[in-house]
Amino acid sequence: MKKSLGSKTMKTVVFPTVVMIVCTYDENGKPNAMNACWGGICSSSPASMAVSLRKATYSYHNIVSRKAFTLNIPSSKYIKEADYFGIASGKDTDKFAKTGLTAVKSDLVDAPYIKEFPVAVECVLTHTVELGLHTQFIGEIMDVKVDEEMLIKGDVPDTEKVDPILFSPENMNYYGIGQVLGKAFEIGKML
Ligand SMILES: Cc1cc2nc3c(=O)[nH]c(=O)nc-3n(C[C@H](O)[C@H](O)[C@H](O)COP(=O)(O)O)c2cc1C
Repeated sequence: MKKSLGSKTMKTVVFPTVVMIVCTYDENGKPNAMNACWGGICSSSPASMAVSLRKATYSYHNIVSRKAFTLNIPSSKYIKEADYFGIASGKDTDKFAKTGLTAVKSDLVDAPYIKEFPVAVECVLTHTVELGLHTQFIGEIMDVKVDEEMLIKGDVPDTEKVDPILFSPENMNYYGIGQVLGKAFEIGKML
């Protein structure tokens, strides 16, 4: 029998989410980065991603004014920098100076991306959904930039090479990716 835990997310929705770093420019052109796990792919066509930010974050105001953001996927070796991006605020800190990471100006959207992280998704803001504590920003993907050595079959980023970080809101732990369990759209046919 299942136990009802009520309408809440933290500590109850245990499914790990991928760690994404949202990069933006502030009104003075200072690049900023924040850790945001409430988000992911939300449309295949037009290719779009969504991320939910609280108004209290510096990044929220940057997205509202610049109408663009990038979502950067760190490899596990950057776990300290990724976590720091979720602790400090761009309101009073230059997070790129502190971490030593490099903010590269996107040539497609009004936002920077992180040179050292293997994947950068460049998004133009298309929808803003007021949800309550969080505001969901939906961005159409203008380009996905991937380090060439992470690619297989020409233009497919390899999950194991990218080595993303997962975050569990249940215990606040970061995890690496685990073993392969089976192929989607195939293993179900074996039933
Ligand atoms: C693992 C992790 C996930 C987070 N996910 C979110 C999120 O999805 N939305 C959000 O508003 N804040 C999230 N945060 C908190 C922000 O990253 C944090 O408030 C940050 O300092 C905001 O930076 P900024 O003020 O420079 O924008 C997360 C923090 C961590 C460590």
